[in-house]
Amino acid sequence: MIPSPPPRHRLPLAPAPLSWQDEPGTAGASPGPGFWAVTRHADALRVLQDPATYSSRPGPGELPFLGRLLSHQDPPQHTRLRDHAARALTPERVRRFTETARERARTLLSRALDTARATDGILDLATAVSDPYTALNLADLLGVPHADRRRLPRWNGPHALADMTGYAPHLIVHRRRYPDDDLTTVLAHNARLASDELEMLVPLLLTTGLAPMRDAAAGGLAVLAQHPEAYRELRDGGAELDPAVEELLRLHPPLLTIRRTAATDTELSGHRVRRGDEVVVSLTAANHDERVFTAPDRLDPARTPNPHLSLGAGPHLCLGADFARLQLRVLYAEVLRALPELRLAGPVLPSGSGVTNGVTSLPVRAG
Ligand code: HEM
Repeated sequence: MIPSPPPRHRLPLAPAPLSWQDEPGTAGASPGPGFWAVTRHADALRVLQDPATYSSRPGPGELPFLGRLLSHQDPPQHTRLRDHAARALTPERVRRFTETARERARTLLSRALDTARATDGILDLATAVSDPYTALNLADLLGVPHADRRRLPRWNGPHALADMTGYAPHLIVHRRRYPDDDLTTVLAHNARLASDELEMLVPLLLTTGLAPMRDAAAGGLAVLAQHPEAYRELRDGGAELDPAVEELLRLHPPLLTIRRTAATDTELSGHRVRRGDEVVVSLTAANHDERVFTAPDRLDPARTPNPHLSLGAGPHLCLGADFARLQLRVLYAEVLRALPELRLAGPVLPSGSGVTNGVTSLPVRAG
């Protein structure tokens, strides 16, 4: 996950288009400075597309060290680093993953189905399929050696960024010595990246690529399991997968909010926002804005256009968006092939901090 904003930015369910949220503090959390909650799609775009006014630099209460990460920088510093990363993560490199991802999804599904059929007939699509699928895809993309992959589950907890920052130099040294067809190899051989830049870029990719991807995959499958008619439509070819991937991302944004800090005094939705104020975009609210989405609560697998904000917008638009979409498309296609019906066999267990939005368990019937 993106290592900010902190979980204190939990938003009320239906706030006004722009509202000031006090943070009085609770038994578990100390008081905060408060923040502006942005819920309209148009305002969200204004904030996300204007880094000169709404800065990504670490906000109050965030560790200044985060400012060394690409995700927490503003142009022009951000632009340079992002260009290096984007040039390594080319559409061609992403496309080459299709077969590996498909093979992986098939193997994980058939193993989980075999085990379920030999036992109680139930498989957990999150823990047995989508979690390992997304983690191993990322390990491939970044060239994490097989011997190190047992560390992957630990890279999802609260210490993920610290763990990965500790691990990244080993991975970089390894890929300098044993180059392969992966992102770390490309970045580690880019002479224009300073070593401290590289040592922040690799752990950032490891964190940003892991948790939101895992949460999008399990979350999308959970939404599908709760909409059997949409599942059948997709299975029978009555709806295309590409727009369905977008619609599932709209209804299940793995990151619920995006934080910025006002860099100057400004005006938003008729309110005066002061320099230094925190501004928090609610992706759930923006993705349900009736001015943009007809019948926003409805799952419409063919919804087009679908300008949801689950992958962000503006200069920080998710760098792994193509890779994320590819993984989701392949996974959904393989689940649709392996399971004619997606029948829940127990409660879907959500996980999340108020900022992250995942699913820890998704039990379904094997047949
Ligand atoms: C469906 C899965 C994913 C979702 C929902 C997601 C969501 C997001 C969002 C909302 C942002 C923008 C944050 C902001 O504006 O502050 C972002 C940025 C980013 N994402 Fe993703 N992401 C996903 C998968 C990935 C993957 C697989 C990778 C890497 C392979 C990745 C790498 C990044 C990076 C490096 C950034 C920072 C870009 C920048 O600051 O310029 N993401 N992601």
